[in-house]
Order: sequence, then C-alpha cells, then structure tokens
Amino acid sequence: MAAIIDGKAFAERLRARISAAAAAMPVRPGLAVVLVGEDPASQVYVRNKHAATVAAGMASFEHRLPANTAPDSLLALIARLNADPAVHGILVQLPLPAHLDATAVINAIDPAKDVDGFHVVNAGRLATGQPAMVPCTPLGCLMLLRDRLGSLAGAEAVVVGRSTIVGKPMAQLLIGESCTVTVAHSRTRDLADVTRRADILVAAVGRAEMIGAAHVRPGATVIDVGINRVARDGRSRLVGDVDFAAVEPLAGAITPVPGGVGPMTIACLLANTLTAAARIHGLPDPAGLLP
Ligand code: GUN
Repeated sequence: MAAIIDGKAFAERLRARISAAAAAMPVRPGLAVVLVGEDPASQVYVRNKHAATVAAGMASFEHRLPANTAPDSLLALIARLNADPAVHGILVQLPLPAHLDATAVINAIDPAKDVDGFHVVNAGRLATGQPAMVPCTPLGCLMLLRDRLGSLAGAEAVVVGRSTIVGKPMAQLLIGESCTVTVAHSRTRDLADVTRRADILVAAVGRAEMIGAAHVRPGATVIDVGINRVARDGRSRLVGDVDFAAVEPLAGAITPVPGGVGPMTIACLLANTLTAAARIHGLPDPAGLLP
C-alpha cells in the first residue's frame, strides 16, 4: 500500500506561506492573465487563477480578448504589460486560437515576468543551471518529491512525456537534483521495461490510465501529472495517466487525481509571481518557497 501524496494539503500550506510573504513585501505583487477566445476549459482555469491570486493578497489583472484578435493587438497588449510597473507576472493562457503564433507571443513576454517559464530565455536558463522562471507544473512535482524523499541524488528517474510544458523541464529539474534521468515518450520501445527502472516515475503524457502495474517497480514514488476526463459508469470522471487502482498497491508513494499535482500548479504560479516581483525590485528571493 502506497503512501498517498496529498498535493492539495501541501498546496494549501504553500499558499499560506506565499500570502504571508506577499503581505510582507514592500510592493504588492501583480499577475496579469491574458485569455484570447472562449475555450471553456481555459475560462475555468483563468477564473481559478484570478481567485487564487486575489486570495494570496496579490493584484490580479485579467485581459479577455475576442477569438479573432489580430496578432499585433495581442503583441501590443504584451508590450503594455511588460512596461507596467504594477505587473510582475504575465501569463497568456494556452492554447491560443490557431491564427496566433503561440511561440512568438510567449517570446514577446519580458523573461523577468514570464511566470509560466515558457520563454526561450527561461528554458535556456533552466537547461544551463542559471536562475530561471521554472514552469509551474514540474516545479510543483519537484516540491512534492523533495518533501517526500528529501535528497533525490542518485535516484533513477523516468519521465514519461517530452512536452515543453512538463516533460522537458521536469527532466531538467531532476538532472539538477542529480538524478539519473530517462525521458520516455510515445515512440519509446518497450515502455514498461524503461519505467520499471524508476525509483521516481513521472507520468505526463495525457493518456488516461496508461501506466499500469507492469510499468512500476515496487516501492517507486509515482507522480501523476495527467488530468483526463473519461466517461465511467455513465458519469464523467477525472483520471490520471496512471491506473491508480492497479499501481497504488505496489508503489511506495503516489499522487492521486484529483488532489495531487493539480493544486500544486496554481500554488507554484503564485510562488513564481512572488519571485518575479522580488527579483524585479531587487529584493532577496522569498525563502523556503522554491528550489
Ligand atoms: N493551458 C494549460 N495549462 C497551461 C499553463 O500551465 N499555462 C498556460 N499559460 N496555459 C495553459
């Protein structure tokens, strides 16, 4: 029987520490969120981010633009936010409508305000071991792993998924922790053979319950990044990339879905906003929040 890693409780404690640190800051940290179009899931995410930002005592600036927004209008808004001293973090909700070039838009954000950590400069800093804004989801996973395991040095870590948002930065962070890191993906031959090596298994592929008992070494720490909506017994349910019922009996520890990694992502967005505000104003990085 695995220990259940309670990301919800961890995120609540982290958010309390962030609120206290924000209140103690000589400036009020501010986060601007840009939503283009009416994607229903994105609207829910943006609403949740706004509520969490306000609850942390930070300023929240929401910018909702129509789906047919011209590229130049969006870039002009980003330029205004880059120049706005009340804004320390800028997040452009993805996906963007198809006519907008997400890479160009993200790379127009001032890297110092790129709280998603998606700008090429931040990806490069992370890859070269320089202080970076780190993408929120892998940062949250790392916090849970450190809390559970202490030092990760020497551990065999397998990341399943090679996305820019989770898989690649997760691998970079684990290299930074001195893990032996393998990145597996949809073209990996004999996935189970690779994942069974893992002391630390991070599943970030977006395929419902694809990691089963045969993929997991007994005693492994399993971090499930997946959030997949499935119909089960006539009802809509959220499940991870890991088959929880099959893996939980043999894992050493495992994150549930929901209530595992998900709540950590928003908490880390707030942590990144606090860090961005501190760095922009030449204040020390808030202690104890980040790696
Ligand atoms: N859409 C889904 N997840 C994310 C995220 O972490 N950041 C942004 N900007 N958009 C998203």
